Amino acid sequence: MPKPAARLGALRPSPIRVLSEGAPADAIPLGLGEPTWVLPESARRALASESGVCAYGPNAGLPLLRSTLAAFYGARTEEVLVTCGSEEGLFAVAQAYLDPGDQVLVPDPGFPAYAAVARLASAEPVPYALDAAAGFALDPERFAAALDAAPRAKLAVLNHPGNPTGGGASAAALARVADFCEARGVLLLSDEVYRELHFGTRPASLREVTGRGLVSSSVSKGWGAPGLRVGWLLGADDLLAPVRTVHAFAVTATSAPSQRAAEALIAASGEVLPAARREVQVRFDALRESWREAFGEELRTPAGAFYHWMPLPKAALADPMAFCLRLRDEARVVVVPGLAFGEGGRAYARLSFAARPEQIREGVRRLAPLWSAR
Ligand SMILES: Cc1ncc(COP(=O)(O)O)c(C=O)c1O
Repeated sequence: MPKPAARLGALRPSPIRVLSEGAPADAIPLGLGEPTWVLPESARRALASESGVCAYGPNAGLPLLRSTLAAFYGARTEEVLVTCGSEEGLFAVAQAYLDPGDQVLVPDPGFPAYAAVARLASAEPVPYALDAAAGFALDPERFAAALDAAPRAKLAVLNHPGNPTGGGASAAALARVADFCEARGVLLLSDEVYRELHFGTRPASLREVTGRGLVSSSVSKGWGAPGLRVGWLLGADDLLAPVRTVHAFAVTATSAPSQRAAEALIAASGEVLPAARREVQVRFDALRESWREAFGEELRTPAGAFYHWMPLPKAALADPMAFCLRLRDEARVVVVPGLAFGEGGRAYARLSFAARPEQIREGVRRLAPLWSAR
């Protein structure tokens, strides 16, 4: 049996998948972060009208999708690279820019793929803390402290609104972090997959504060279509050039029918995005009301996304994974232990309210007895 590459040694299967895939059939799924509302009509029509030749298309994406995305962002078409979901974009950036031993700043708590793509490039993820007192917002001071302590930093990743916390980033905070990175020659990548699922005003994009960073996003959250596997990277042509090389050899191009459906979605953003925000609001209202009923507590509204980041009961702190397994197998509701998102998540669990409203209500009802035995 050949030995897998040593760089895979530090990678473990994501607890998010482990908990969800091993769940009893009747468990309420509040683990995965994926929309549960139907694919918008515009995309369904585009998929149904596929006919004729199904060609590869250009490596960087279909020209119409690239120009539609460029118009959406006020960018030039050359600044858009279409990827297989934003996750492939993250992987390609890591492969394009990291050498063994380089360091990558990642939010803690944060989306586990950031550390994983760093490790797959034989680089070292370096966590930076968020501002817990401000709903886990980006904190330039904490970011700067982590950057100062990382002499081999080559790449830094931001995520706002953030998974797993729903925390945001002000334009001023983004600008300061961009300045720190520019001064150090560190490439800054801003993961904005949840930007369109905001609760208050629409958050600023990194693009609005610097022309020297990369922005990644996808149709998976705001446009409600994770199964299309269409994402994109936005950035200056010279910054994207090495990423395009990795992307071309890794996947050739993103699925052409999926790109046509994604184009229809982006072109219909004026209807699709407000409708998605209404879906998320209905779900958050279901969570807020059932939480109030179960615990008499008022939930804080996140900046965006569809996650409730909840402090674990005291009794669960010794072994959060065992507690989440009990919730799953005894109470029959799936939530993810915060440790899956880094050390900064040790005292928390993540509940995804992307689920259907009735599932959310039932999930909180099932969770309450174990949660209250604190
Ligand atoms: C913060 C964040 N970034 C990226 C992704 C990857 O999404 P996709 O590859 O579908 O764009 C996810 C998925 O959950 C996510 O939560």
